Amino acid sequence: MRLAFVQFSPSFGKVSENISQALTLADGVEADLYVFPELFASGYQFKDREELKELAEPATGGPTVERLAEWCRRRGAFACAGIPEADGDALYNSAVLMGPDGLRGVYRKVHLFWREKDLFDAAREDAFEVYDVGLARVGMMICFDWIFPEVVRILALRGAQIVLHPANLVLPDCPAAMVTRCLENRVFAVTANRTGIEDRWDEAMTFIGQSQIVNPRGEVLLRLEDEGAAVSIDVNPAEADDKFVTPQNDVFADRRVDLYSELLKPK
Ligand code: ACM
Repeated sequence: MRLAFVQFSPSFGKVSENISQALTLADGVEADLYVFPELFASGYQFKDREELKELAEPATGGPTVERLAEWCRRRGAFACAGIPEADGDALYNSAVLMGPDGLRGVYRKVHLFWREKDLFDAAREDAFEVYDVGLARVGMMICFDWIFPEVVRILALRGAQIVLHPANLVLPDCPAAMVTRCLENRVFAVTANRTGIEDRWDEAMTFIGQSQIVNPRGEVLLRLEDEGAAVSIDVNPAEADDKFVTPQNDVFADRRVDLYSELLKPK
């Protein structure tokens, strides 16, 4: 199957223009599944929850998801993209998984980064669902979830072959860390990050770009610097079903869960 990601610099609040920019880039490459950045149409630095509420939309019927749905229908493709999601009074930093037949799933960010904690609600229930999209089994996580190895581990244990990872990265460590996440779980990961600067808080944020696709051997198949671009590559998702690193080491079967009880205790 062919995987793609889109990296660009959204302008805060310019939803329609940002979607057009992202979809124009995506239109330039053929793929079965496209990953777009976290909050790709809204921008990142909401001043407060009121402003977030104005730009948030439900997972179905809102302007961003409707345009994505129409685009997926027209292209016969899947897309994973970050949106600010409104569900009643709750506001989530979410990723939608859209296919040619409409919405397939929603992931609500579990680990909120920095001031996201003042703005968004964290996922309230089990978020780590795995979706069979025909050509592969995929799971989603968002940006800062990368620093918690449990996320990719759970998705992989549940059968995900490819982790879809919309991001707005500012720390420099994620691209290297995702190499380890993929290696230790023998999965693919597509990190779609944004670029540019937002300066709406008292602290400006510079987004690092470096979107990438990593394979189950921890090899970086594609990585951008900070250019705006869409790129794609063929992968074989079945490679992620082989959990052996040597003929005698299956990284899942070899886990000593009898020795890991602290992992499930809160700090
Ligand atoms: C992040 O989680 N957006 C850094």
